[in-house]
Order: sequence, then C-alpha cells, then structure tokens
Amino acid sequence: MRIFVTGGAGFIGALAVWRLLDLGHDVCVVDNLSVGHQAAVDRAAHLAGKSVEFYPCDVRQTGQMIEIMQSFHPEAVMHFAGLKSVAESVSSPERYYENNVQGSLSLIQAMQQCQVHRLVFSSSATVYGASGTPPFSEQAELGPVNPYGRSKWMVELMMRDVCAAHTDFTGVILRYFNPVGAHPSGQIGEWVQGSPNNLVPYVMGVLQGRFDRVRVFGSDYPTPDGSGVRDYIHVLDLIEGHVAALGLPAGLSVFNLGTGRGYSVHEVIQTMQSVSGRTIPFDVVDRRPGDVAISIADPGCAERLLCWKAQRDLTEMCRDVWNFAKCSPRGYE
Ligand code: NAD
Ligand code: UD1
Repeated sequence: MRIFVTGGAGFIGALAVWRLLDLGHDVCVVDNLSVGHQAAVDRAAHLAGKSVEFYPCDVRQTGQMIEIMQSFHPEAVMHFAGLKSVAESVSSPERYYENNVQGSLSLIQAMQQCQVHRLVFSSSATVYGASGTPPFSEQAELGPVNPYGRSKWMVELMMRDVCAAHTDFTGVILRYFNPVGAHPSGQIGEWVQGSPNNLVPYVMGVLQGRFDRVRVFGSDYPTPDGSGVRDYIHVLDLIEGHVAALGLPAGLSVFNLGTGRGYSVHEVIQTMQSVSGRTIPFDVVDRRPGDVAISIADPGCAERLLCWKAQRDLTEMCRDVWNFAKCSPRGYE
C-alpha cells in the first residue's frame, strides 16, 4: 500500500516507518521536526534498505498537505503527529488544542480533498481518565482529566462524526497504553531532550548517567508494592496493531493496544537493573498529581476483531531500551 505517515520522525512514527518499509509498503513522511529528528527517518529507511519520501511540514498547513497527498496518492494515513506532554498541556492548553485537534482536522480536510479514505489515529489510554476500574475495555466510560487527554478525545469524536457522514471512510482509533522499547538494532528509540516525564526514558537517562536517581512517585497506591501499575507494551507490538488496522472495513473502529498485564514502577526498575547489570538508585517521593493507581488494558477486542496480540514481555522491552541507550548514547546526534 501507499501510506502517508504524519509524525514519522518521532519515537513511534519512525519505528512504524521502518516496519512499513520492511513489509514492502511505499511510505511518505510528514513531520514538522518540532520534537522528532530527520535522522530517525533516515535510520528507518537504512534499516529497511528502502527509500522514503520526507517532507518537513506541519499537518496544520492544509494546503501543503493537499499538495503532498496529490503527488503521493496515499491509500491510508497513519497519524502519529501530535504533542504528548501532560504537564505542558496543563500550562499551555491552547498549544495542545491547536496542534492536536486543529492539526487532525486539517489532515482530515486534506484527505477529503484528495479522496483518501483510511485513517489510523494514535489515541491514548489517558482518555479513560480516573473514573473507571481497570482493566479498561473500549466501552469503559471516558473522562480524560487533562488537556492532552481531552485533545485526544476531541479527535476521537471528530473521527466518529466523519465516519458517520462519509460511509466510505475507515477510521481506526488505537488507544495506546504505555509504549516502551526500541528497534533491536539500537538505532531507533525514544530520545527525549532535557528531563523526560515518562518513567522508562527517565530510567534510561539514569543508566546513561544523565540523571542521578529515579524518583518513584508514590508508595501508598492500592497496589502490591504501593507504586503505580501500568500496562507497558513493546512499541514493535504496538506497530503490528497499526499494520493489522490497515485491513479493516469502512466505518469507525476503536481498539485498546495493551498487553492486559500490569507492572509496578519497582518491577520496571528491577527489570532494567537485571538487563543492564547496573544498580539504579531511586528515591520514593510523593505521588505525582494526576496519576492513577492502575492502568491496564482489556485487549480482548483487538485480539478478536483485529487478530492482534502483543507478543513481547517486559524483559524484551527493557533489553531493547538498554541496547538503544548503549548504541545511540546521544540519541540522533
Ligand atoms: P513523539 O513526540 O516522539 O513524536 C511525535 C512526532 O510528531 C514528532 O516527531 C513531532 O515532531 C511531530 N509533530 C508534532 N506536531 C506536529 C505537527 N503539527 N505537524 C507535523 N508534525 C508534528 O511522540 P510518540 O511517542 O512517537 O507519539 C506518537 C503519537 O502517539 C502521538 O500522537 C502521541 O500523543 C501518541 N501517544 C503516545 C504515547 C507514548 O507514550 N509515547 C502514548 C499514547 C499516545
Ligand atoms: C503518562 C501520561 C499519559 C500519557 C503517557 C504517555 C500523566 C499523568 N500521564 O502516562 O497521559 O498518555 O504518559 O505519554 O502524565 N513514574 C515514576 N517516576 C517517574 C516517572 C513516572 O515513578 O519519573 C511512575 C508514574 O507515577 C506511573 C508510572 O511511573 O505510575 C508510569 O508513568 P509514565 O511513564 O509517566 O506514564 P503514565 O503516567 O502512565
């Protein structure tokens, strides 16, 4: 297929570009490089032994999106482009609504103009908020508690309306749980400038000596060891979910992409210690505002209807992160 990938210079997008090229698809990448790195796209193409079209463009530039689509003629769009920091979304909500919501609207408008009828969208488990009881099925009540989560929910609602209005449109909403991992070559992974908000990139920074100690947020959650429990999923398993989504029929589909199994912060630190053979110093501190105790997917719907199931365990996720830390110590420099 001919696949248009937005945000293809980012963590998940670049790995998707590699996998799509590897499977023999033609890929065109659009990324404004606000966070991502063109070197990630170059590495993806090199690893697959294929070439890729790359445009340093913003998805909010509808005219440019139309021009690129008119020359590439995509059959499907994978839409990874977006901002993802919860803390930043609280301090700059306008930026998040403009980038994530307006950017997605612009992309859909360009798709309509160019007769492109298949969209796979990167949503997040954050849309479930704090009200329900895990494991979350796709039918669980939604209620994101921050602007980042609400921006994802708004795009989900937009896609629902677009699918209802245009019966030839295929909209696939994929709600990611906690993607971690890297390409086994150590060439493509998550590289965060400055201090990462997320656990695994922070632990990787400690292993690399960029930070002194991990802060474990909370010791009194109702979990076996008192720290938060998350459903970590290998990013390559997540991408197989996107590949499976390319075959879905017209209409709206919503899937959780998670393993159905949770791990605590201490279990992640222990696993990173055992794969790296190094001690990871940590301090237990207060809970981080806005965190839930447990977030775990019910992946049953994806298993039945998407014929997809995560294959890789936490050890493999941590091993690939550690390998990326060793092979690419300065990220994409
Ligand atoms: P990332 O920040 O590494 O990649 C996002 C990419 O989008 C970056 O390369 C950035 O430069 C690009 N981008 C941002 N705004 C753009 C715009 N307006 N126009 C063009 N390009 C733009 O993030 P990621 O981890 O690869 O996440 C990809 C998607 O998955 C995001 O939409 C994110 O919200 C979603 N998601 C990620 C996680 C996670 O834990 N990584 C979890 C749930 C959902
Ligand atoms: C966070 C976001 C979520 C977003 C996801 C992916 C919040 C409240 N939620 O999810 O909306 O979709 O990232 O970008 O920010 N932890 C530590 N020390 C750290 C970092 C994290 O103990 O330095 C703990 C957290 O309390 C949590 C677990 O590790 O229990 C995972 O945290 P994180 O990687 O930030 O992911 P989420 O909080 O699940």
